[in-house]
Parts: sequence; structure tokens; C-alpha cells
Amino acid sequence: MYIDPPYNTGNEGWIYNDKVNSPEINKWLGQTVGKEAEDLSRHDKWLCMMYPRLVLLKQFLREDGAIFVSIDDNEVASLRLLMDEIFGARNFVTNIAWQKIYTVKNSAKHFSEMHDHIVCYASSKNAWERNLIPRSDEAISNYTNQDNDSRGLWSDNALQARNRNSAGIYPIKCPGGRLIEGPPEGTYWRMSETKFWELDADNRVWWGKDKNNAPRIKKFLKEAKEGVVPSTWWKYQFAGTNSGAKTELREILKDNSADLFNTPKPWQLIRRIIQIATDDDSIILDSFAGSGSTAHAVLKQNLMDGGSRRFILCEMDQTISSEVTAERIRRVCEGYSFEGTLKDTLLEQPLTWNSLRRDGFLEKLLTDIDGIKESGSDQYDDIKIAIKGAKLSVIGEQKVTDKTPGLGSGFQFCRLSAEPLFNEFGDIRDDVTFAELADFVWFAETGVGYSGAADSPMLGTHEGRAIVLLFNGILGDRRPQGGNILTKAILNSLPAHDGPKVIYAAATRLGASALQRANVIFKQTPYAIEV
Ligand SMILES: C[S@@+](CC[C@H](N)C(=O)[O-])C[C@H]1O[C@@H](n2cnc3c(N)ncnc32)[C@H](O)[C@@H]1O
Repeated sequence: MYIDPPYNTGNEGWIYNDKVNSPEINKWLGQTVGKEAEDLSRHDKWLCMMYPRLVLLKQFLREDGAIFVSIDDNEVASLRLLMDEIFGARNFVTNIAWQKIYTVKNSAKHFSEMHDHIVCYASSKNAWERNLIPRSDEAISNYTNQDNDSRGLWSDNALQARNRNSAGIYPIKCPGGRLIEGPPEGTYWRMSETKFWELDADNRVWWGKDKNNAPRIKKFLKEAKEGVVPSTWWKYQFAGTNSGAKTELREILKDNSADLFNTPKPWQLIRRIIQIATDDDSIILDSFAGSGSTAHAVLKQNLMDGGSRRFILCEMDQTISSEVTAERIRRVCEGYSFEGTLKDTLLEQPLTWNSLRRDGFLEKLLTDIDGIKESGSDQYDDIKIAIKGAKLSVIGEQKVTDKTPGLGSGFQFCRLSAEPLFNEFGDIRDDVTFAELADFVWFAETGVGYSGAADSPMLGTHEGRAIVLLFNGILGDRRPQGGNILTKAILNSLPAHDGPKVIYAAATRLGASALQRANVIFKQTPYAIEV
């Protein structure tokens, strides 16, 4: 799960309009929130808004799942306490600092705020396993093969460390003849003398080209873990920025107005969470969907690794949900018209003094760049090399004048009914209309929205099945049970259908064999109406 609730900064204008008045929710609040439910306004409104939502999310979260919550300094302390209470302090995993902005605001009164928090709790910390972050080009480019080792690319680590190790003090005679009397002061060789010479015999020690350098231990890429352990410090290059997310949303929706959805997160940020916390067929839930960045991130990650992850997004504001959330996802699925230049970073290489001094480093970098230029020449109109700060980037540029490539896939848009259909005992409320229940039954049965007229018991056919609903008044009898029970006469009055009929009714007078002969699947309301 990923959520990005209002941060309570004091100028977002978020609304506290829970309308917690449905009998079912009140009963549930009484059971789960206990005394808190009696006076929800007793506490700070933000906590009141978040508390029941987090309790509900916990109920939906799988035993081996995790929840990530974006927040800033305004509410991070309260959020941590709330999460400790609901998810258990023992299930706290981490608090990530994400660098959301890369420039200092000189207008800041005290500090220029440059990061957000992403607080992570597991449903059960013992059951949750995180993935490694796929190794980036940058990490791979730290590996070289200066001695043409048949085991392939390697990087190297110093032999000495500060950890006390009584077996780690001994002289070393370099193959080039130099004698190293022992580890540098205050450090120890990381392994015993025997182990060290075993590694050397296996050509796992690097002595430099002249064989007289301080020995370093080779670490082969193919023996390294498949990815990188995620850290708690997410730089903007790793997870995007707020301003990048805004620009991209404007481009997708072709909307430059000042009131366009103002707080989108970059999909790059949410994709990192997806990489760390999901399998390739996971379901990702975001109940503060906003502009739909979570869906965008899921689609991007699926495209990258061939996954089939699905998303569930909830957005409270009707205008945002239809004009921003759904519209953005539709456009990124299908591709959207765009005029300009798409830029992909194909390689990023920090240029440190150490790397520049390393034998073969520049040759390898130039070979890599030539390779990228050659393999990317079909896909990109131009491949540019830029050096900014101490970093070299290779950028592929694609001029697009019609449409960005769609990410494929799709989604369904569902609207919650204004009032709940069921009371706290699970019975259908007395004032529910036939059309309202028809909408719900059709969705429960088919998984898609209903577009029929809902003016007869026969709602329509779906994948060869006729779907029938007997409910108040539809057969002209407005008594509560009038026409709600499946009888032989009612069955005979239904339009002919060559195939199975799924009939929802309060009861049936037909036995199992009669139903089977008539090819009827009987479903009793309200119990069998399940999504
Ligand atoms: C910070 S935005 C989420 C932005 C989103 N992560 C994105 O990338 O676009 C918070 C969203 O929560 C919704 N929201 C505001 N108040 C809420 C409330 N009381 N309950 C549920 N959702 C609320 C807002 O409509 C807004 O779209």
C-alpha cells in the first residue's frame, strides 16, 4: 500500500467531511475504534481523519504486505504514533528521507525544506520481505575488469577495516617486492593471513598494475547480489522531484492552468516503493489517489519487468477522480499527444578523483558511451553527453510530434453510491430502488459497470449468462416481498434465453433439480451479492 494523505500544512484546504453516518460504518467504528468513535472531534481533525482510514487499510493489508505513507514535518511525529498504535511499534520498518527538491529556497524563513518522509510499516515485520533495488547503470559502471579475469567484471574493496580483529595484524609482501609492515594505524586486515593468501592464490587480490599497491579484494559482479540494498536516503536523481511531477502532469493533461492538481508525486518515487515491496503480480492500493501517480508507477514498472501488477485507487473528490485521476491513467495507457522532446537518461557516471585515476576507467567509459550511441541510434534522434557537477550523463532524445507511446493495459472506473445499500445487519435498506440494486448486482456478477435501463427483471446478458434480478416493485407489486421470490410462474414470464440464467431473488420456490433443468443459477439476496 502507498498513501499520500493531506500533510496538514495549514494551506491545502483539505476537507473533513467524513459523513460517518451510515449505520454500518458507525457499528464498525464502535467495534474497531472503540470509545474514540463517540466523539471524533475530540482530537485533532487530521488524526480523526487518518485514524479510521489507517485501521481500515490495516484490515485490507496482507499478512506479508507493507504500507508506505508520504508525509512531511508537519505531521510526521503524530503519524508515527498513530502507526505505532495501529500497526504496532514492532512492525515499524523505516522512515525514508526523499529529496523532493534540488534547489535551496533563499526565501525560507528558517530552513529550506528539501525532503519528505516516507514512513514504512509492515503488516508483520517477520513476514515481510523487501526486494533489492535493480542495479542501476551507475552501480554497474563501478565494475571493471583491469586484469581480464575470466570471471568478468569486478570492483574492489580495501583489505583493512576499523573493526577490531586480533587475527588481522600481519606483514604482507607484495608480488612487486614491496613490504607492507601491517595495516594502517587504527585498522586491521579484514581476514586472517591464511585466508588472505588463499584469496590471492585464486586471483581475488588486486595489487595494482605494478603489483606493489596496497592489496584490495576483488568483488565479482556475477557473485554480487542481483541488486542493491535500498537505503533510507533517496536522492532526486533516484526518485524524481515534485516539480518534475507537476511538469509531467501538465504535459499529460495538456493543462497549464494554475488550479491544476497541485500536489502530484513523481511516479519515479512510487516506482521505487513498488520495486522494493511488491512481487510482479501484487495488488497495490492507494486510497489518496490524487492525480493517479501510483497507477502510472505500476504501469511503468510492469512495462519494465513484464509484471502483471494491478492497482486499486480511491479518490474522494469527484472532479479530481474523473478529470485528473482517470484521465491521466487513460492517457498514459493509450499514449497521449505530445509535442516536444522525450529524454531518457541512458547512463549516469559520477566522475570522482578515484574513478578517474583507476586504470582503464576512461577507456571503459568511452567504450560504454560508443556502445550506447550505436545501440540507441535507431531509437533516439540524438544522444547527448552532458557533464554537470561531478557527473557525466548520456541522454537519449526523442522528438515526438504526435503521441507518446502508450504503456498499455487499462482500468475500470467505479463510483461509490451516495448512500450505502445495506444496513448494519447486512440487509438491503428499505428505500433502495430497483435501479440502485441492479447497478450493484450487475457489477458483482460481471465485474463491469451497468449501462442498461434497469426497467425489467432481465438486466441483460454477459458472456452468455442472462442476469436477472427480482426486487421490490419491478413486477408491479410494491409490497416488500411482492415479486421478490422466484416461482415457476415468474420463471416462465422471463424472456427466453438460450444459456444459463443467474437469478437474484429473496427466495426460491423451485427445488434444486427444477433449477438445474431450467439452467438457473439461483443467488439469494442479500447474502449472495458479493463483490
Ligand atoms: C496529497 S494528495 C495525493 C497525491 C497523489 N499521491 C499524487 O501523486 O497525485 C491527497 C489526496 O487525498 C484526497 N483527500 C483530501 N482529503 C481527504 C480526506 N479527508 N479523505 C480522503 N481523501 C482525501 C485529496 O482529494 C487529494 O487528491
